[in-house]
Amino acid sequence: MDELPENIEITEDIAPIINKFITDGQYHTIGLLVDSNTSIHCYPLIESALPDHFLIHIASGEKHKDLSTCNGIWEEMTHHQMDRKSLLINLGGGVIGDMGGFCAATYKRGINFINVPTTLLAQVDASIGGKLGVDFQGYKNHIGVFQDPQQVIICPEFLSTLPTTELRSGFAEVVKHALVFDQQYWNKIRSSPWDSQVWSEHITHSVFTKSSIVAQDPTEIGITENFKFWTYHWSCH
Ligand SMILES: NC(=O)c1ccc[n+]([C@@H]2O[C@H](COP(=O)([O-])OP(=O)(O)OC[C@H]3O[C@@H](n4cnc5c(N)ncnc54)[C@H](O)[C@@H]3O)[C@@H](O)[C@H]2O)c1
Repeated sequence: MDELPENIEITEDIAPIINKFITDGQYHTIGLLVDSNTSIHCYPLIESALPDHFLIHIASGEKHKDLSTCNGIWEEMTHHQMDRKSLLINLGGGVIGDMGGFCAATYKRGINFINVPTTLLAQVDASIGGKLGVDFQGYKNHIGVFQDPQQVIICPEFLSTLPTTELRSGFAEVVKHALVFDQQYWNKIRSSPWDSQVWSEHITHSVFTKSSIVAQDPTEIGITENFKFWTYHWSCH
């Protein structure tokens, strides 16, 4: 894969990209889904770049990734009279992306949504591939759909406020992508100490890797021998 899919943008400067994809008057209503951390740390980076919008606040954490939180989100969307020409922006980690995407993809049979991932895990993995959903009665990601967002906008600047434990959780995914698909990249990662890891480079590498996997197997039926052959050749270039 030489180029990223059209709906994925990686940028160091988020405001102009937000302006490019979300213009004034383009949508009837714009809702922005945030959790208790992204409302404080991430929203200020994009607030002034957005046209008129309203916020939907949810509590942070996996334990809230369920249908009862979805009920609250759908209630807010309904209360603000979101119609099929409205947009939901999901600003947060994998929980917000999975659950906000699911709420948008099912509200009025599907409205547009844009994911702005703010954790390393969401930037290198969860925001790519259109897997959306919530946990149900102890089963992870049990209820959900496949639906690509109109746009995924990835900006490493969000990572400056991310707790180290969350950074490490995303780093594990970066390491996994390198170990499985790109030995050269793995050698590079392991020869650098933690403080010298370049997140923007890791994001680009992992987004290409995950996009290649998704392109071959969009609904996770199983990776074929052909795919393994292909990725081997890709990683050699
Ligand atoms: N759809 C997929 O393909 C896919 C792939 C992997 C994981 N996932 C899902 O992703 C979820 C895990 O995602 P996660 O690790 O991002 O967890 P998360 O969304 O719970 O975020 C982790 C914590 O970081 C906080 N946070 C987010 N951005 C921040 C920032 N910039 N600064 C400070 N704090 C911030 C959040 O509020 C939260 O407390 C799981 O539900 C998992 O199932 C989905």
